[in-house]
Amino acid sequence: MPPARRNDGDCHGIDPAGVASTDERDRARAVAVAAVRLARATRRRLPDDLRLWELAGGRPDVGDTVTEPALAADADLAAALEAATGPHQRRANGLHVTPRWLADRLVARALEGLGTAPAVTVCDPACGGGAFLVAAARWLHRRGAERRRVVRHLLWGADIDPVGLAAAEAALALWAGEVPPPGRLVVADALADGGAVWPDRPGAGFHAVVGNPPFQSQLGRATARTPDQQARLRARYGPAVRAYTDAAWLFLLAGCELARPGGRVVLVEPQSLVGARDAGAVRSGVDERARLLDMWVDERAVFAASVRVCAPVLEVGPGRRNGEPNAWSERFAAAVGIPRVQTPATGTIADLAQVIAGFRDEYYGLVAAVRERSPDGDDAGAPLITSGLIDWLGCSWGRRPARFAKRAWRAPVVDLDELGETGGRAARRWVARARVPKLLVATQTRVLEAAVDVGGSWVPSVPVVSVVPHDPADLWRVAAAVVSPAATAWLLGRAPGTALARGAIKVAAPDLLALPLPADLGAWDEAAAAVRALTTGPAAPAACDRFLVAAVAAYATPPSLTAWWRERAHTRAGRPLRSDD
Ligand SMILES: C[S@@+](CC[C@H](N)C(=O)[O-])C[C@H]1O[C@@H](n2cnc3c(N)ncnc32)[C@H](O)[C@@H]1O
Repeated sequence: MPPARRNDGDCHGIDPAGVASTDERDRARAVAVAAVRLARATRRRLPDDLRLWELAGGRPDVGDTVTEPALAADADLAAALEAATGPHQRRANGLHVTPRWLADRLVARALEGLGTAPAVTVCDPACGGGAFLVAAARWLHRRGAERRRVVRHLLWGADIDPVGLAAAEAALALWAGEVPPPGRLVVADALADGGAVWPDRPGAGFHAVVGNPPFQSQLGRATARTPDQQARLRARYGPAVRAYTDAAWLFLLAGCELARPGGRVVLVEPQSLVGARDAGAVRSGVDERARLLDMWVDERAVFAASVRVCAPVLEVGPGRRNGEPNAWSERFAAAVGIPRVQTPATGTIADLAQVIAGFRDEYYGLVAAVRERSPDGDDAGAPLITSGLIDWLGCSWGRRPARFAKRAWRAPVVDLDELGETGGRAARRWVARARVPKLLVATQTRVLEAAVDVGGSWVPSVPVVSVVPHDPADLWRVAAAVVSPAATAWLLGRAPGTALARGAIKVAAPDLLALPLPADLGAWDEAAAAVRALTTGPAAPAACDRFLVAAVAAYATPPSLTAWWRERAHTRAGRPLRSDD
């Protein structure tokens, strides 16, 4: 993305030329006011040579009006920086301030065991308001490094945003009583220019590179790189830079260059790093340079942006590379408590069934043909099943409202006569293919949930996925495999970063086709019989237990997997609806 106000020139200090507009002066002033209030509240002195004063047009006079609540609200300069930055600039620069607890935790993971504090050097290549630098300062001080020594000798940072950098400088000055020497905090593009932005950096590299680099998805208009920027990054990082490569992923490669052998790199990353196809080249690049020691995964949506995050803990070379890639998916899965399953290599669902998923044409082609079920019987209406109506081996059509085409429905049906006359070709074909005995699989659920349509009368909405057995006699066995705990754990372990969206599983047709089949055929048949009983008989918790016991035996998974699955599923559901009801 275009660094809004980049300064390629002087990287040895904070260049005043970087800030000119009134907007930037206002931002700087808001941070400066917060700094003055904070200094007053904590009875600390702020030096006169702060860059922030220059950017703000002078040290602000906040008078005597500061109230305690105002102090509390402004107590963090990084938060003041974020609040003073407009949404467009926040998006374009990927500015999201890291909460103190997270910066503390990741800094501890990076620095633990790296040597004696007075000599450990730390760099944040996209330091913004300095959340990580201040966290590192506190950590080093707690381990015996004197405050002034920390800011004089141990910390290095860069950012393309002069106001952000000035906030980091002020935060460190508040903490230590003096500003870092020239050349330590630089207005610079550390991604494009690497270590050269700190000419006086330690020769062997930094002991640790930490931070929360900007997330700049190449799908967003505000964050997409220009062709020129793309070419520059490609010249530096080679084939790791692809069309959809997020800048945050590339910061990992930059971090591996900046850290010394044996040093650590811990950067906050979007979870797409772990599973996205376009991130594969970055992962391979990291594999050649560093060992993945551990992974922190955010399970509670720390940042306001909708992106879920993680932070790999990397140890840089030397002599990494025997061709063995790091276990990115396994580390991720372990971090979120997804059990590992050793699935048998006996075959996949593709051997027994086809999987059908619809897209725009199928969805929009249905819209005009959907109406409420008529109260007096309904020959020409086929129940429309949305993802929200599907439970684990049950369907709540007619008992729970559904949403389709932006409105709520009590019992939506597809009028087949109407569809024949007005529906598009794709929608007619979709309905014709789907009106057979099948399994309907919901998307975005915590465990794989599917309902069995024995009579073949239901019409799936988009994005519901249909699994249609080649031989209808396999319907129950296919269902038993899909709704088993092993299938959920397998799907999550396959590409955890992409399969999980806010804790829910994203189900795609290729995943279902590749789902391994059980090896123990006898136990699989028992599981299938239990599924049949659960679907067609009265609700019976014992049948659910019977199914789980048989599914464990069929896939040879440990009982702990079932406990994990029950917990995830919050086990559920009243009597399942039969499709022939
Ligand atoms: C998510 S914020 C993190 C700020 C700070 N490290 C924290 O954790 O609170 C990302 C920062 O990266 C900066 N940035 C964006 N592109 C950059 C680049 N190419 N080089 C250096 N910094 C960059 C933004 O200005 C922003 O301050």
